[in-house]
Amino acid sequence: MKLLITGGVGFIGSNFVRYMLQNYPEYEVVNLDALTYAGNLENLKGLENNPNYTFVKADITDRATVETLFKKENFDTVVNFAAESHVDRSINNPDVFVSTNIMGTQVLLDTAKKYGIQKYVQVSTDEVYGSLGGDGSFTENTPIAPNSPYSASKASADLLVRSYYKTYNFPINITRCSNNYGPYQFPEKLIPLMLNNVRENRPIPIYGDGQNVRDWIYVEDHSRAVDRVLHDGIPGEIYNIGSNNEHSNLEMAKMLLNLMDAPESLITFVPDRKGHDFRYAIDASKIRNELGWEAEYSFETGLKETVNWYLNNLDWLNHVVSGDYRNYYKTYYSR
Ligand code: NAD
Ligand code: DAU
Repeated sequence: MKLLITGGVGFIGSNFVRYMLQNYPEYEVVNLDALTYAGNLENLKGLENNPNYTFVKADITDRATVETLFKKENFDTVVNFAAESHVDRSINNPDVFVSTNIMGTQVLLDTAKKYGIQKYVQVSTDEVYGSLGGDGSFTENTPIAPNSPYSASKASADLLVRSYYKTYNFPINITRCSNNYGPYQFPEKLIPLMLNNVRENRPIPIYGDGQNVRDWIYVEDHSRAVDRVLHDGIPGEIYNIGSNNEHSNLEMAKMLLNLMDAPESLITFVPDRKGHDFRYAIDASKIRNELGWEAEYSFETGLKETVNWYLNNLDWLNHVVSGDYRNYYKTYYSR
């Protein structure tokens, strides 16, 4: 298989690139990434000399460059991870979310269709379904009702992807996963942000009253699910991905502090996110029943591994949080 992975330098994409090269050593993988603030080549250290791996710095909205690459490489499959992914940033600056997440997806779809790609997987999110109350969970039939500019841009992309199946019979799948955690996650997201603050003995900012609930999945379980969909997903189908690990943000903060032997007094309540979705929960029975996927990590194991990874990779963390990250943190959290 010759596989194009876009956004493969970011958190989930880089985990997926490693996973594919390890599990399918005969596959050729090309990783296209624009190296935005979230794309860190240190995430893929060690792969530089792998003969089946190529990195290309390019933007998915750059149609001419994307087309040249498809013409040259003869891909048979595409997995699109490339996106602006942070809800808070989308609230302050929606433009780039529309450009990358929607228009970039259209460029990929057009080009993939033109060059006869046999399977295109769009990596989407449970946030397209909007927000749940105290019970119930999202199925693939839940109507989409995105609430942030980020989730609206991802939902728009999903609709475009779906339309290429309905209109052109182009073989797509859409995956909608819940909140990922694990190695290489940029510390603007809750778990690595808390981890980084704890090691610097700084307060942990919890939005609102901390009762919002997220459904957590270890990143490697997400990679294995995308693998199943890439190989066996039925064209045109959507697959939810989640591993039944719901926790309120406050519970999560306490668990992490406990694991790191840090005091709960570090928890600090800060103004709530605008339009903050209350709860996400995924019903993943379709991918389990139809594609035989199961999550392998319990939350306890995954969180321990994540904490250990960050503490054993302080150089990575120090590089990531220098420079721009400090400016972002200062501006955003002084609201
Ligand atoms: P991330 O922000 O860590 O990585 C995004 C990557 O995309 C970066 O390497 C960045 O350089 C690249 N990129 C951004 N704009 C680009 C462009 N115009 N052209 C080419 N590359 C570009 O994101 P992540 O958390 O790894 O998420 C990856 C995908 O998974 C996204 O599509 C996101 O919506 C989806 N997703 C994320 C989660 C989660 O919990 N993080 C859950 C479900 C779905
Ligand atoms: O559900 C999937 C989505 O999960 C992905 O599509 C997104 O790309 C990914 O960023 C993530 O979105 P969230 O907004 O849920 O993740 P985040 O880590 O930003 O926030 C998790 C929860 O923690 C949310 O309820 C907001 C809260 N939070 C977040 C930060 C950064 C805080 O209380 N304090 C914080 O400082």
